[in-house]
Amino acid sequence: MKILIIGLGYAGNRYQRAFENIAASTDLPLSLAYVGRRQKPTELPYFNSVDRALQEFAPDIVVVSVNDHSHAPVLQQLAGYRGFVICEKPLATPQDNLDKLLGALKHISGFALDLVERYSDASRQLREWVERHDWQLVRASFHWGKDRINDYRPTCGVTSEVIHALDLLGWICPRAGQLKVHGVLGVRSDFSISGSEVLDTLQLTASLGEARITGYASFVNIARQRTVDFSFVDRDTRLIHARLVFDTPRWDHDQLRIWTRNANGTEDVLHEFAAAPDEPGLDTLHKLSRLCRQVVHAVALKEQPPQAFADLETAMELQRLLNELDNHAQTPPPVRYVHGETRVLLAEDSDLESLG
Ligand SMILES: NC(=O)c1ccc[n+]([C@@H]2O[C@H](COP(=O)([O-])OP(=O)(O)OC[C@H]3O[C@@H](n4cnc5c(N)ncnc54)[C@H](OP(=O)(O)O)[C@@H]3O)[C@@H](O)[C@H]2O)c1
Repeated sequence: MKILIIGLGYAGNRYQRAFENIAASTDLPLSLAYVGRRQKPTELPYFNSVDRALQEFAPDIVVVSVNDHSHAPVLQQLAGYRGFVICEKPLATPQDNLDKLLGALKHISGFALDLVERYSDASRQLREWVERHDWQLVRASFHWGKDRINDYRPTCGVTSEVIHALDLLGWICPRAGQLKVHGVLGVRSDFSISGSEVLDTLQLTASLGEARITGYASFVNIARQRTVDFSFVDRDTRLIHARLVFDTPRWDHDQLRIWTRNANGTEDVLHEFAAAPDEPGLDTLHKLSRLCRQVVHAVALKEQPPQAFADLETAMELQRLLNELDNHAQTPPPVRYVHGETRVLLAEDSDLESLG
């Protein structure tokens, strides 16, 4: 099975490590190659264009892990490709033409947007509890942020971050309905090398069916902080609360707590779970490697994945939502982070925990 990684940067390297781990731990022979604008110091076969790589390498799986702004142009270069595409989130940027992109992917055999938090045991457990007990969502709120100030990697802004939390709401409560935005505030700044007015923070109110949502996402959160809180009502009209915490204190360390409050005010804990995975070779890759493994199995063995991939339709719906947030965010005058003559960038070889 041949896998082509387009864009071998931070995310592309993570895919390389994940697929190499799968090859080492299964009988499936996998060979990897990559496309980049320039050759990287690696032994992997290199192609300087997508076209050449598709013709000469003929991959079964293509991974699109270029920077946000290159997603749409690269996906369009896949026109006519008939294999499986894994695309890093977000699908595109708010400026891209989605119809063109859809047209180019007409012939692919499968698609998965990397919404990696769907592959957390904590999220999956909550999804199962909600379904099993037929809980109805009343209210949810999220805080989803990390520090990308002066990161060397380009970005389209906080829409690339808020997507995780927005997706989790619909994925955990699939029966709640479509997410509808009511109001959105934001802040723009020069936090990124991508411009002087990049949207760095969003604060929103929305509805998911009858439930009301509030959320905060930021790329200038000076510490990684990822929580999603839910309040449900059960069949006996009891209020049930659930809290998901991701990547704390380390990447892939996720927690879930589900509880209700008794008449006497004490908490009745219904479920508690904390993941601290430490499989050798999978440091920071536990969730990503599950997605990769399921794609490899779907393509090589025609296996139905245990959970559906975030398909092209889902990716498009989320993208339209992100575009709406970006277009409608009311923002004050932009913030300036760079006060000196030059911007001091985070080093490319910074550890995975601080980059992630
Ligand atoms: N799911 C997650 O949790 C997660 C985490 C991190 C990143 N991401 C996503 O992954 C994507 C990449 O981010 P990153 O952090 O890996 O950035 P990065 O370290 O800057 O890597 C991007 C790579 O893509 C290459 N590239 C850019 N445009 C290209 C093009 N047109 N053709 C070929 N190669 C191209 C760059 O090459 P040059 O060296 O030539 O610039 C670079 O090697 C982003 O969309 C980001 O949102 C997702």
